[in-house]
Amino acid sequence: MTKAKTTNIGSNALPKVSHGQGCYVFDSTGKRYIDGSGGPAVFSLGHSHPEVNAAIKQQLDQIAHGYRYTFTSDPLIRLNEHIHAQTGPGFEHIAYVSSGSEATEAALKIALQYHFARGDRSRTRIIARERSYHGNTLGALSVSGFAQRRKQFEDSLIPCTFVSAANVYRPAVEGDETALTDFLADELEQNILRQGAENIAAFIFEPVVGAAGGVIPAPAGYARKIRDVCDRYGVILIADEVMCGSGRTGSWRALLQDDDVLPDIMTVAKGLGGGYVPLGAVLYSDKVAEPILATDGAPNTGHTFTGHTLACAAAEKVQEIVRRDQLLERVRKQGSILMSTLQEAVGDLDAVGDIRGRGHFVGVELVANRDTRKPFDPDLHLTDILRARTLDAGLILYLVNGTIDGISGDVAIVAPPYIASPAEFDEIADKFSTSLRHALTDIGAA
Ligand SMILES: Cc1ncc(COP(=O)(O)O)c(C=O)c1O
Repeated sequence: MTKAKTTNIGSNALPKVSHGQGCYVFDSTGKRYIDGSGGPAVFSLGHSHPEVNAAIKQQLDQIAHGYRYTFTSDPLIRLNEHIHAQTGPGFEHIAYVSSGSEATEAALKIALQYHFARGDRSRTRIIARERSYHGNTLGALSVSGFAQRRKQFEDSLIPCTFVSAANVYRPAVEGDETALTDFLADELEQNILRQGAENIAAFIFEPVVGAAGGVIPAPAGYARKIRDVCDRYGVILIADEVMCGSGRTGSWRALLQDDDVLPDIMTVAKGLGGGYVPLGAVLYSDKVAEPILATDGAPNTGHTFTGHTLACAAAEKVQEIVRRDQLLERVRKQGSILMSTLQEAVGDLDAVGDIRGRGHFVGVELVANRDTRKPFDPDLHLTDILRARTLDAGLILYLVNGTIDGISGDVAIVAPPYIASPAEFDEIADKFSTSLRHALTDIGAA
C-alpha cells in the first residue's frame, strides 16, 4: 500500500484525536486534555455538544447540501436571522464562505466591486496593519502583516501597504493611549494621502489581533479614529472578526466594545459554527451592497460550498444555543475571573510580561526581561518547548511566536469554550503554570 509521506497536518508524531466531551479532548491512547484555547480559538461550545451533533445528524439524514444556484434552505434562512439578531442594523447583507481566509477574500472583492460599481475604478489598493493575520490564501496573505507565513510568496502577493499595529504594550510611539491613537490615525491618513485617496479601496484590521500579535485589543478610541479617517477619504473599513468575533470577547461583534464602531464590511468564521462544520461569512452594509446590486446584481464571489446546508444547520444550532443560554453574557462576566485566575497562577513569574484580553480571549506574553519587555531569544524555541510541555500535562493552548517582529515574541493564547466554568479555568491555569515553569527551566530561564 502506498502511504502519504507527508501531509499538511502538523506532524505524523502528533497524538491521534479520538473524541471530545465539553471542554475535554481525548486521544487514541485515552489521554485527556483540557481545551484551554478552543483549539485555535474556534470551539465556542466545546466538543460533541449533544444538541449540535443531533442537528448535524438530522440535517445529514435529509440532505448534505443544496447548491446555491438551485436551492436555499431553512437552516440558512434561520442562521441569517440569528446573525441579524446578534449584529443589529448595518449588516443587512451576507456572503457565506467556508473559512476565515475565504471570508477575507470575499471581503476584499466586495470592497473592490463596490468601488468599481460606483465608477471609482482606480480604487484598487488595500491598506492593512503590521502584525496582522487575515488568512493563508494568496489574497488574504497579501494583506497579512505576518512575515513567517509570507516569506516564500512575497514576490507573488498583491501589493499592499502596512501601517503600525495598535499595541499598547509595544506602542509605536511614546506617550499615553491618546497620543498612540492620534499617531496611528495620522499614520493611516498620511498613507492614504501619499498613495492618493482615489487609489485606496479599503483598510482591513482585526479589532482584537489574534495569532499575529497574541490577543491585542485596540487602545481606547482607536476604532473611532480610524473609522473617521476612512470616512474622510471614502475608504471602506473592513473589520476581520474571524477570531475575535462571534462572541469570543463577550459581545457578538468585538467592535461593540470599541465605542460600537460600525465597519462597512465584517468577516466572521471560527466561532460562527463553533468548529463543527467549516463555515464563515462576510456581513456588509446597505451602503456597500447598493451599488453592487444596482450594477452587477450580486457580489461576484462564491464557491461550490457557499452556504453549505450542513454547515448552516450546525451553525444555526450553535447560534441558537449561544442566544438561548446567554453565553455572551457569561463570557463577558467570566472574563475577569479568567484574567484573575491566570494572574494568580503565573503573574508572579518574571517571564510573564503582560496578561491582556477580553472575555474568553486572553494573551499571556512571555518576556526575558519584564522591565525592558525584551523578548526571549527566538533560538531558544520557548513556544515549541512550552507546547510540548502543555500537551504532556494534558493542556491545549494556542501558542504563537514571532508576535513582535515576525521572529521574536512568544505568547500563550488562552481562549476556553464559552461553556467553560471557573473550575475549568483553575485546571487550565494550574496546568499552564506547571508547564510554563518546566519550560522556563528547560531553556535555562527559571
Ligand atoms: C483574524 C483571522 N482572519 C482570518 C483567518 C483565516 O481563517 P482560516 O484559518 O479559517 O482560513 C484567521 C485564522 O486564524 C484569523 O485569525
